[in-house]
Amino acid sequence: MKITVVGAGYVGLTTSVCLSEIGHEVTCVDVDQIKIDKMKQGYVPIYEPGLKDLMLKNIRKNRLFFSTEHKKSFLYAEVIYIAVGTPENADGSANLKAVEQVAKSIASYIQQSTVVVIKSTVPVGTNEKVKQIIQQNLENQVKVDVVSNPEFLREGSAVYDSFNGDRIVIGAEQKEAADLLAEINRSFGIPIYQTDVKSAEMIKYASNAFLATKISFINEISNVCELLGADVEDVAVGMGLDKRIGIDFLKAGIGYGGSCFPKDTKALIQIAGNVNYDFKLLKGVVEVNKQQQGLLVKKVIERLGSLGGKKISVLGLSFKPNTDDMREAASILIINELIKLGAEVIGYDPVAIDNARLALEGSAQFTESLEVALENSDAALIVTEWPEIKNIDINLFEKMKNPLVIDGRNCFSLDFMKSYGVEYHSIGRPSVIGRKIDIFV
Ligand code: UDX
Ligand code: UDX
Repeated sequence: MKITVVGAGYVGLTTSVCLSEIGHEVTCVDVDQIKIDKMKQGYVPIYEPGLKDLMLKNIRKNRLFFSTEHKKSFLYAEVIYIAVGTPENADGSANLKAVEQVAKSIASYIQQSTVVVIKSTVPVGTNEKVKQIIQQNLENQVKVDVVSNPEFLREGSAVYDSFNGDRIVIGAEQKEAADLLAEINRSFGIPIYQTDVKSAEMIKYASNAFLATKISFINEISNVCELLGADVEDVAVGMGLDKRIGIDFLKAGIGYGGSCFPKDTKALIQIAGNVNYDFKLLKGVVEVNKQQQGLLVKKVIERLGSLGGKKISVLGLSFKPNTDDMREAASILIINELIKLGAEVIGYDPVAIDNARLALEGSAQFTESLEVALENSDAALIVTEWPEIKNIDINLFEKMKNPLVIDGRNCFSLDFMKSYGVEYHSIGRPSVIGRKIDIFV
């Protein structure tokens, strides 16, 4: 099948590469000329494990192409995916400008019947709007179906998820369009769930909102555990053994970040509000997440008092491990807060430093060496649970003025930290006061 994918971001590029891998001829289109030129030379602009090999393989097999030209890319496409960004507006609603622009462009260039697939996360009812935009701007009277096919890819495992996801959701009004999309995706070997368009759009938001709810729930449980002296890690295991609850997304920490949960939870609150429904539970989820992201700063102030002139190591900058994505990363809020309190901050991350520099406008130093990050530091805050941090040589904490670790992702067992004499505070668990410390007076 000849497919064009518009948007070469975390979603669009992964979708393009994986569709070409199962045999389709795919053109990936983007307005960003630099990005497209780099990809033509085999450079992958995002950090996504496994993506580069697959991209190079399919470029070599002449199944994967890159372009900035809508006209050329739309003319021969039987199917056009829209995978451009849908960032958050100031009021929390989804910004659909890019989606609408692409719809107009499709309408002006297509010359054969085409199925338009909306891959981007869009509010319920957007497909209808896109269909109207296309009908109103059609240059050539051809048949156009608009289908919803939301993505459930996790950054850092997007290639894996493309081939091992739990379901592919297709929302369509026309059965033949739905069947065509099912045919396109058949080789992924993933169960296909067909429904109407609005339900498909809602499945995406409801799924992300539910996962975010699970995270905020276990984070509130962790805050109560801390006050009661229980251990949230054990509580999560005990809860997760109940198949109705499940162990996934019960990891207590400093909250969720990324380009999806933060924007999709707020967008769903807006979507409900637009039909006069007050989504109280989801508002609580967002509120809890905001409070959770500030937790490490609160803990380090409780322990050290004034942070003026203190050196604080922030270990992990990306919003989660195995990605370079800094969108809504907890490290941004934490580092800005620490700087405001007069601390000298050095951030460590194995891959996200370039994006961190852009996100933090030079307010902190950065290093790819844990040793440099910890050297002579007053406190180490763990923000992202990178394997490099979880498997750190524990003796590196000796480089600090005092081995004081405040862990936002519960990377270590309490016994392990106790045995190494590290003062260790984490989320939802008792503190470990490993060695003689000057109790702050
Ligand atoms: C985004 C959202 O994060 C995700 O929730 C949604 O499902 C899809 O859109 P992502 O791939 O992360 O996914 O977006 P982003 O990384 O911002 O990439 C969007 C790409 O579209 C950029 O490369 C941008 O240059 C391109 N774009 C944007 C166009 O090609 N044309 C436009 O008009 C606007
Ligand atoms: C998410 C959804 O998982 C995916 O299905 C959807 O398509 C896009 O949004 P992503 O945002 O890439 O994927 O990462 P995910 O692994 O879901 O983590 C999101 C955030 O939640 C991260 O900040 C992570 O640190 C946090 N998280 C995740 C927790 O705090 N606890 C958990 O148990 C799981």
